[in-house]
Amino acid sequence: MARRIVITSGKGGVGKTTICAFLGMKLADLGFRVVIVDMDIGLNNLDVVLGLDSKVCFDIVDVIAGNCRLKQALVQHPKYPSLYILPSTHSYDEAYITKEQANVVVDSLAQSFDYILIDSPAGVEEGFRRAVYLAREAIVVATPHISSIRDADKVLSILSRYDLLSKYLVVNRIRGDLVATSETLDLDEIVRFLRVKLLGAIPEEDEIAKQAEIGYMNSHSYTRAISLLAENVHNGTRKIYDCSQKYRGFWGILRRNIKRRI
Ligand SMILES: Nc1ncnc2c1ncn2[C@@H]1O[C@H](COP(=O)(O)OP(=O)(O)OP(=O)(O)O)[C@@H](O)[C@H]1O
Ligand SMILES: [Mg+2]
Repeated sequence: MARRIVITSGKGGVGKTTICAFLGMKLADLGFRVVIVDMDIGLNNLDVVLGLDSKVCFDIVDVIAGNCRLKQALVQHPKYPSLYILPSTHSYDEAYITKEQANVVVDSLAQSFDYILIDSPAGVEEGFRRAVYLAREAIVVATPHISSIRDADKVLSILSRYDLLSKYLVVNRIRGDLVATSETLDLDEIVRFLRVKLLGAIPEEDEIAKQAEIGYMNSHSYTRAISLLAENVHNGTRKIYDCSQKYRGFWGILRRNIKRRI
């Protein structure tokens, strides 16, 4: 039976969809059958982020309306054959779906996959509640900024009202150079404030959008961070990527200085 994990946040644009995409690719690479369900209805972009938009024929609303079978709506990733996406629709007004309807679809997916990653919209409105309803576990994504941490705190307290087995935190877009010089919040402070289990730390990486589209990670630090995240999701290894490591010591100071100049 599949693990059903929602990837959510309070603040928008913190990297939920990007993490869904790369975590999905990594879990598929490890041999698991993975489906990412795009529940950001109306503002969805998972297909675009993964470079699969041209392959989308049907979406979750078509499945619910009976316009196609579930299998027909799933889009297989060309590079990771055990990774699929269930796309969402752009036309929110015409395509209202309830959490119960979406749950029937996700229940059917649970038989055929090891992981169901649910890409949630930001905020705590109806779209968020619908996405969380489908899951048994939740990953809250935040960036190391006060506004994002405060929103994550609110979301975590709302998630406590749901019947979830576990709640985790992933901190994304960490500037290792700023961590090394204590110019940004560090992970321990964030975890102490939010009182939640840390599952991953992901560095800021300029070229990430392009890499998701071609299904290839050419940044060593990003690849390592996602690999540790995937291992932690699967085995609970508790290994967290150290985003500031390469900015410490003699060579680290040089790297920091170069990064500041560019
Ligand atoms: N680690 C990272 N380093 C640099 N840029 C990143 C990183 N993660 C995500 N981004 C960029 O941040 C932007 C927002 O990412 P994404 O769409 O994944 O966020 P989101 O939380 O899903 O947004 P929304 O709330 O609108 O659904 C994108 O341009 C993405 O490429
Ligand atoms: Mg998104």
